[in-house]
Amino acid sequence: MKTIVVIGGSKGIGKAIVDNLKETTKIINISRTPSEEHKNIVSYTCDVTVDKLPELESEVHSLVYCPGSINLKSFTRLTLDDFQNDFNVNVIGAIKTLKAYENQLVKSKGSVVLFSSVASMLGMPFHASIAASKSAVEGLTKSLAAEYATKVRFNAIAPTVTNTPLASRLLRNEKQQESMKQRHPLKKYLESKEVADLACYLLSEKASAITGQVIPIDAGIVTVKI
Ligand SMILES: NC(=O)c1ccc[n+]([C@@H]2O[C@H](COP(=O)([O-])OP(=O)(O)OC[C@H]3O[C@@H](n4cnc5c(N)ncnc54)[C@H](OP(=O)(O)O)[C@@H]3O)[C@@H](O)[C@H]2O)c1
Repeated sequence: MKTIVVIGGSKGIGKAIVDNLKETTKIINISRTPSEEHKNIVSYTCDVTVDKLPELESEVHSLVYCPGSINLKSFTRLTLDDFQNDFNVNVIGAIKTLKAYENQLVKSKGSVVLFSSVASMLGMPFHASIAASKSAVEGLTKSLAAEYATKVRFNAIAPTVTNTPLASRLLRNEKQQESMKQRHPLKKYLESKEVADLACYLLSEKASAITGQVIPIDAGIVTVKI
C-alpha cells in the first residue's frame, strides 16, 4: 500500500482527498485538529506555521499541502502582518513540509500537489495578499518541478470558490451562494470532492507525464466570458 502525507486532511479539500484515498492508501494526516479515525489513517496534531513537523519512519510516495487563507481586504486595510501571516501559512508552511519529507519523496520518486487559487490568475479587488502568496506557490511549484525533474513531480491546483470551512463566510446564506454561482460562466461554485478528484489524479501515476503545471478548476471564471 502506498503512503500519502496530507497536510490538512481534517477539513475541506484535504478531507475530501482523505475520503477518496483512505480505503486504498496509507494516510498520514497532519493538521491542528485530528482527522477521523480509520484503520489506514495516522494523524498528527501540528501547526505547520509554528511546530516542528513529525519525523516519519515510513516511506512517503506523495504529499499534498492544503492549509491556506482567504483574507480579503482593501490594500489600505491590509497590514504587513496580514501579508506575512498569509505568506507563512500558504508558502513557508509548504516549504517547511517539503524540506521535512524531501528525502522520502525523492527515494520513492514521489508526487506533490500544492494549492494556488484563481486569485493569482485573475486580478480582483481586495485579493492583494492572497494573490501575492499564491503567486509564490506557483513559482515554487515550477522551480521545484525543474529542480527535481526525474525525481519528484510538482503540480499546483488553482481552484475558484469551493464549499469548505475556509470559504464558509463567502457562502454563508442562500443569497450569497446564488450570487457566487452567477459570477461563474458555469453558474456554479465547487464542492470539495471535485477539487479532490483532480488532486488525486495529479498525485497518481496516471499523471506521470505532468509536472510543473498550475491547473485551474474554475467553473470558467478565469478564461471564459459569456
Ligand atoms: N475553499 C476555497 O474557496 C479555495 C479557493 C481557492 C484556493 N483554495 C486553497 O485550497 C486549499 C485548501 O482549502 P480549503 O478550503 O480546503 O481549506 P480549509 O477548509 O481551511 O482546510 C484546510 C486544512 O488545512 C489545515 N490547516 C490549516 N492551517 C493549518 C496549520 N497552520 N497547520 C496545520 N494544518 C492546518 C486545516 O485543519 P485544522 O484546522 O485542523 O488545522 C484543514 O484540514 C488552500 O490552500 C486554499 O488556499 C481554497
